[in-house]
Amino acid sequence: MEYPRLSFWFLFILNFLVILTTPQPAPRARYNRCSTSGNYTTNSTYSRNLNALLSSIPASSDLNSDGFFNASIGQNPDQVYAIGLCRGDLAVGSCRSCLNNSVQAITQACPNQKEASRWYDECMLRFSNRNILSTMELGFPFTAWNNANATNQTQFNDVVGNLLSGLRDPAAAGGVRKYAADVANYTSLLKIYAVEQCTPDISVMDCGRCLDAVMTDVSTYCNGKDKNY
Ligand SMILES: *[C@@H]1O[C@H](CO)[C@@H](O)[C@H](O)[C@H]1NC(C)=O
Ligand SMILES: *[C@@H]1O[C@H](CO)[C@@H](O)[C@H](O)[C@H]1NC(C)=O
Ligand SMILES: *[C@@H]1O[C@H](CO)[C@@H](O)[C@H](O)[C@H]1NC(C)=O
Ligand SMILES: *[C@@H]1O[C@H](CO)[C@@H](O)[C@H](O)[C@H]1NC(C)=O
Ligand SMILES: *[C@@H]1O[C@H](CO)[C@@H](O)[C@H](O)[C@H]1NC(C)=O
Ligand SMILES: *[C@@H]1O[C@H](CO)[C@@H](O)[C@H](O)[C@H]1NC(C)=O
Ligand SMILES: *[C@@H]1O[C@H](CO)[C@@H](O)[C@H](O)[C@H]1NC(C)=O
Repeated sequence: MEYPRLSFWFLFILNFLVILTTPQPAPRARYNRCSTSGNYTTNSTYSRNLNALLSSIPASSDLNSDGFFNASIGQNPDQVYAIGLCRGDLAVGSCRSCLNNSVQAITQACPNQKEASRWYDECMLRFSNRNILSTMELGFPFTAWNNANATNQTQFNDVVGNLLSGLRDPAAAGGVRKYAADVANYTSLLKIYAVEQCTPDISVMDCGRCLDAVMTDVSTYCNGKDKNY
């Protein structure tokens, strides 16, 4: 399908993302989450604040240095908070374009929802009426895995486990980009690629805790799964 070669799985928890994949971009959204916490009405103050904030994201100069957007607009109870994050290896133009797609799509996918999240392979976008800025959240993990088993699951799990553990501290310790990527030999023909990333507004410790939770999820849900998605 979109990943004709192999070894695709990935998993996102709100403030970070871990991707293992062949390095090919795919434009489709991986995950949408529309919150059930409340609705706003069309043309309300919340709606205007949300539209103003979201539409400011794609062209924001905040994306230049770190591929990260975090801002809030309006006054309680119509205050809107938003976070946009691009994968750490993405050029700023591609970052803008990914977030632009996301901005266009998110309000269609979650019409009138006060809170929503959307993930692509290259970026994620979240907005809410509660303060989500500088806050690590583990609440809504998203996990996807391949259905077929690895030929040698022990070997596969070892390679993946070592690769992911090795990225944890470098990702968490990152400054404006809490991002780390690496590649490991899997078989003589195949490699496994991994990316770990947190939003840069959370602490080193919170990023590490979040990545630990994801690694646990990977070992649970992606155990021995290496074949085509
Ligand atoms: C929000 O609107 C959706 C339909 O668009 C509805 O299913 C849901 O119950 C509403 N939620 C609240 C909290 O009113
Ligand atoms: C929202 O405002 C626009 C422009 O003021 C208006 O054309 C539209 O009918 C309004 N929609 C609703 C649902 O009130
Ligand atoms: C975002 O996409 C719209 C079309 O959907 C386009 O008109 C606009 O220029 C784009 N903005 C950026 C910053 O890429
Ligand atoms: C994959 O391996 C697990 C044990 O690790 C086994 O329970 C399952 O049946 C296998 N699935 C397939 C499709 O071979
Ligand atoms: C699977 O891989 C492990 C670790 O690399 C190795 O020790 C074991 O012999 C392999 N098993 C098979 C059946 O090839
Ligand atoms: C991976 O395999 C290639 C070619 O077989 C080798 O040159 C390279 O050193 C290996 N990398 C690691 C990290 O073992
Ligand atoms: C946005 O994140 C940066 C860290 O990247 C932080 O310094 C700043 O305070 C945050 N802004 C808000 C409004 O939370």
